[in-house]
Amino acid sequence: MLRKLFIVSTLIFWLIVAGFWLADFLTLPKPVAPISVIAGLAEKTYSQAEIPSHNREDDCWIAIEGHVYDITPYLPDHPTEPEIIQPWCGKEATQAWLTKNKARPHSPRASQLLEKYRAGKWAE
Ligand code: HEM
Repeated sequence: MLRKLFIVSTLIFWLIVAGFWLADFLTLPKPVAPISVIAGLAEKTYSQAEIPSHNREDDCWIAIEGHVYDITPYLPDHPTEPEIIQPWCGKEATQAWLTKNKARPHSPRASQLLEKYRAGKWAE
């Protein structure tokens, strides 16, 4: 008798759990677009005129491949003397980024790092 009660209540318990899970799954809002697209739409757009004023060591923005990056916090960590990277503050720096000024691309790790400083899109 006790055994039967145990089996029935366990069954009911799991049925309730499955019910909640199913209800949650069915009512989940379906994304209207991939998350990267949604994030892209939410991104702020900066006009070309906005970039040049951020040309200082303590306020350094650069534009790379259509995006704006505020790399101010990264400047002291860049593994070269400041003269290499600072002249690019406030400028379009795609070529400098792609070549490190000497025909050598930055590593995938550097690209990952760059994304941390993305501020928005650059209005071409
Ligand atoms: C846009 C102007 C920039 C120039 C001209 C530039 C140039 C250089 C140079 C000359 C080196 C060292 C030498 C070498 O590894 O060949 C270097 C290394 C490096 N830079 Fe830059 N850099 C720039 C921007 C950036 C930015 C914005 C980041 C990251 C937010 C970055 C991250 C790194 C890292 C992590 C390294 C170590 C080597 C690697 O992983 O590729 N750099 N860069």
